[in-house]
Amino acid sequence: MIKQAIIPLAGLGTRLLPLTSVFAKELLPINGKPGIEYILDECIESGIKEIIFIISKKKEMIKRYFYNDQFYKKIIKRKKDPRVIKEYQKILRYKKMIKFVYQNKPLGTGDAVLKTKRYIKDKYFLMLLPDDLIIKNNCSKSMIKIHNKYRSSVMASMKVSKKNVSRWGIYKLKKKLEKNNFTIDSVIEKPSIREAPSNKAVIGRYILPKTIFNKLQKQRPGKGGEIHITDAIQSLINENEKFIAHNFLGKYLDCGTIKGYINSSSEIAKL
Ligand code: G1P
Repeated sequence: MIKQAIIPLAGLGTRLLPLTSVFAKELLPINGKPGIEYILDECIESGIKEIIFIISKKKEMIKRYFYNDQFYKKIIKRKKDPRVIKEYQKILRYKKMIKFVYQNKPLGTGDAVLKTKRYIKDKYFLMLLPDDLIIKNNCSKSMIKIHNKYRSSVMASMKVSKKNVSRWGIYKLKKKLEKNNFTIDSVIEKPSIREAPSNKAVIGRYILPKTIFNKLQKQRPGKGGEIHITDAIQSLINENEKFIAHNFLGKYLDCGTIKGYINSSSEIAKL
């Protein structure tokens, strides 16, 4: 069973400047709700019991959002506003599930994952990248079902336009397992159009094996000098770990760019 999820939150959010100059991008409201809460709700709905946030000293605002008890208690005592009481109870429910670890240098997603090594208990865990919202269908829940059936690693996937392949991790498929699920032959981080083995991109939901930590410990920096989870995944594939690409059914919203972020609120408002 997949019971733990990790969420890298130490990124600088430069693609969203100036919104992120003094503010954590994951707390920016999307249709009136902080983006991170959509990710937490996806986890809770898919049966996750513990969520590890990887933050940095610069992103402590995220921790404060969940640990603002004195403030809430004072307001509630004074005003007894049922709406505030309800919101505070929601925050408390989230807080109970969250652990914080630190990645103070932005050395890449792979390095962020490595920081959670001593907290991961089971053979597999879930990772969600908070820039990627998937609405209308719970992608993590579908991926956990696939994992339970095949007992293997799973990644969310989507076709992208050929000219944009250098924005994503791109994979080559090996074999069709069933509708929407394929085994992966290889994966490459942000390839040029010429290098790309296809136009099938990895989207920010992963079920990863605990063995990835051994790979990450030895991982050399890759594209842009960062330690990429994609490169560690390729090392595992080389050693015959089975990775399944799952073409998810929901709608993808890229909240990591200004254009995508603006669009995400109106898409969610339509639900
Ligand atoms: C990360 C991964 C990339 C993946 C993408 C999905 O990139 O490194 O392989 O395709 O997330 O959103 P980032 O968005 O951090 O640049």
